Amino acid sequence: MRHMLNPLDFSVEEIDQLLSLASDIEHNLPKYAHVCDDKILATLFYEPSTRTRLSFESAMLHLGGRVLGFSSANSSSAAKGESVADTIRTVSCYADIAAMRHPKEGSALVASMASQIPVINAGDGGHQHPTQTLTDLLTIYSLTGRLDNMTIGLCGDLKFGRTVHSLIEAMVRYPGVKFVLIAPDELRIPSYIREDVLTAHNIEFKEVSSLNDAMPDLDILYMTRVQKERFFNEEDYIRLKDRYILDKETMKLAKENMFVLHPLPRVNEISTEVDADPRAAYFKQVQYGMYVRMALIMTLLEVEKPC
Ligand code: CP
Repeated sequence: MRHMLNPLDFSVEEIDQLLSLASDIEHNLPKYAHVCDDKILATLFYEPSTRTRLSFESAMLHLGGRVLGFSSANSSSAAKGESVADTIRTVSCYADIAAMRHPKEGSALVASMASQIPVINAGDGGHQHPTQTLTDLLTIYSLTGRLDNMTIGLCGDLKFGRTVHSLIEAMVRYPGVKFVLIAPDELRIPSYIREDVLTAHNIEFKEVSSLNDAMPDLDILYMTRVQKERFFNEEDYIRLKDRYILDKETMKLAKENMFVLHPLPRVNEISTEVDADPRAAYFKQVQYGMYVRMALIMTLLEVEKPC
């Protein structure tokens, strides 16, 4: 039995297979309508979500399966003090696979150790969000035709933004990838990513504070929201939340073939006037998220690809 807790749980070859399956699903959706007819997905969300939970549910419904779950800790027995381990043991009796989001780092790993069914980490605190990374990889590959030899700008809350941490871990495995890390001092990338991932893999990167200066070099700009829920005091959040706002003027500095990604939800960091720009890819990214989660569910359940 396999889980998806971290993007590195899958080799580059396995990620390639997953993206290829997701791409086939995108182009032949009806072919996959019954491959999970007898399967049940549980969505265990202890933290708010729109895209991740609903895209998992939509993914399973598109595969012919069924879904159950909870969308907040308060509506589960966690509110009475039940542990993650006991919850997943219980859910293992009801479902074939589970996607779990939890505010504590490492909670998906704890769940996987007690689980009788595959566990997918749908976000654990400020740590990892591997299925967002799969979404990002499929989006980048579908838009540019490659995952190598590109400069990726990551902008905003690089300290608490778990999607950034997962994306860097996944992308350092492709040759010729460079990073421009655009953040205020207080929200710089954590040292375990800077030293243990970027430096350890000999990856070219620079840390800057100006988005405008970075724009002309980028093939992909990955904007992120300042993660209000992970701040210890509101004053710091208010001071930092609008540090970067991507607008039409800033977009003029970018390459014609650069793409803007964002895991969403956005708050103010991308002005809505950018949405009409053909380089704004964040709603396409949402669509790719469902296809890649369909591919992941099939892979973890060892469902055969239909002819
Ligand atoms: N990208 C993402 O994780 O969005 P949600 O928080 O809405 O699931």
